Amino acid sequence: MKICCIGAGYVGGPTMAMIAKQCPDIDVHVVDLNQARIDAWNSDKLPIYEPGLDEVVAEARSRNLTFSTRVDEAIAAADIIFISVNTPTKTFGIGAGRAANLEFIEKCARQIARVATGHKIVVEKSTLPVRTAEAVKRILSSAENGATFDVLSNPEFLAEGTAVEDLLSPDRVLIGGESPVAIAALANIYATWISRDRILTTNLWSSELSKLTANAFLAQRVSSINAISALCEATGADVDEVARAIGTDSRIGPKFLKSSVGFGGSCFQKDILNLVYLCEHFGLREVAAYWEQVVSMNDYQKRRFSERIVRTMFNTVSDKKIAVWGFAFKKDTNDTRESAAMYICRDLLRERARLSIYDPRVSEKQIRADLVTACSDLQGQICESDLKLIETNVTIEKDGMSAADSSHAIVVMTEWDEFKEFDFTKIYQSMQQPAFVFDGRNLLDHKKLALLGFEIHAIGKSATV
Ligand code: UDX
Ligand code: UDX
Ligand code: ADP
Repeated sequence: MKICCIGAGYVGGPTMAMIAKQCPDIDVHVVDLNQARIDAWNSDKLPIYEPGLDEVVAEARSRNLTFSTRVDEAIAAADIIFISVNTPTKTFGIGAGRAANLEFIEKCARQIARVATGHKIVVEKSTLPVRTAEAVKRILSSAENGATFDVLSNPEFLAEGTAVEDLLSPDRVLIGGESPVAIAALANIYATWISRDRILTTNLWSSELSKLTANAFLAQRVSSINAISALCEATGADVDEVARAIGTDSRIGPKFLKSSVGFGGSCFQKDILNLVYLCEHFGLREVAAYWEQVVSMNDYQKRRFSERIVRTMFNTVSDKKIAVWGFAFKKDTNDTRESAAMYICRDLLRERARLSIYDPRVSEKQIRADLVTACSDLQGQICESDLKLIETNVTIEKDGMSAADSSHAIVVMTEWDEFKEFDFTKIYQSMQQPAFVFDGRNLLDHKKLALLGFEIHAIGKSATV
């Protein structure tokens, strides 16, 4: 058995590494157009940071896992072809800002149609709008060499930062398709290490829609608790106490109720906007408006946080040094896509603050590129004054202590564990007074910090002084 995976990103890379590790008899070939990314997968410094991933890749790479840019060769040799390319939100034309850009998926399908011979199973791994499989099937049906195909949808539910754990023991594996033989072939691979009762099968469209729905529900929980956090700040209730109180109801459950400065990541916003676009397409205006509100609430939460910082610091942060701890969209990943941090930094920069940013895993180059993105419009245009601010008012530090040194405020953007272990006595002494902490993740020990003299403003809580 040979597998090819087109796309060596955050999903394709870890997923294929796990399949290769668990199934030593299967040859797994991951291909990508991006040579630098492939080189990184073949090196000791993988292109993505995931706890435990280095070991999985190292074990399988020496045996049955290959990374290369030889797309045609990998397609021709494979029995099963996974498509795991990016499907970003469109930035132009019809559906700009909402619909998924399916250009990369379509190019893959055309390439498969051109190169394949015999019978292949084509698996959609990327999250896609409902009925994309239909388009993929039509393109494949134009294959030149008499090849035949079964198309399956097998969305990936791993979360970044816990990808290895999630792949090792997923809540479920979902396979949608029409051909029982093709479904069984894919299910047999997962069944090597996942119990059969966790492998669910559905029709193609249910599978595609389930992925969008799962992400919409998860994001909705975060927006719901974040909405309540605003009310907590207004009333004196504590959002963590409220979350604990409601989470013990087994119908609600305790997970995904952590109030924050706003959800980020490559999936939530994109998938909801996709769902909204889909609903509008089918004339379901009320349904579209319902889900769109989840994204609006997330924008409000980010905006509210920046405004609170400025208001609390005597209505001006101009020329004040602000330490920003964390830039990734959550801990244990180097991914910054849609991270709340870039938007908070943009707002503070436009208030003329001087930012000292520290993240344990994100490079300076990435942070600067993200700030440019955050200041740009949908078409990628950025004004001169924003560009200048990014150049002159942003410093990237190698550790959190230096970032905080002589600052007026610390802003916690990502819940990295190491932030909890910093020497706050020393930090307090090095800071301007009053020493403000804005905890966008409710990560730090607020009582302890208050005793040291800090003034803490956290999400969904009254100020601790
Ligand atoms: C609710 C709360 O569950 C309870 O904790 C609170 O104390 C009072 O309000 P109740 O209104 O008695 O209880 O019944 P519930 O089982 O919550 O159902 C409420 C409505 O939602 C019903 O019309 C029910 O049919 C409907 N429902 C519930 C659904 O349509 N789908 C569901 O999955 C669950
Ligand atoms: C998500 C889904 O969880 C995963 O199943 C899907 O395959 C891809 O999208 P991911 O985006 O990697 O995964 O991370 P996730 O843990 O879901 O977090 C998304 C965002 O929500 C992060 O910014 C996180 O900080 C935030 N979040 C999450 C909260 O603010 N509060 C919570 O309680 C949970
Ligand atoms: P995800 O988080 O969904 O994995 P990424 O952007 O991390 O998304 O990865 C997608 C990868 O797919 C990128 O490395 C990109 O270069 C690759 N890719 C996109 N289109 C093609 C294509 N036609 N052939 C091969 N690789 C592709």
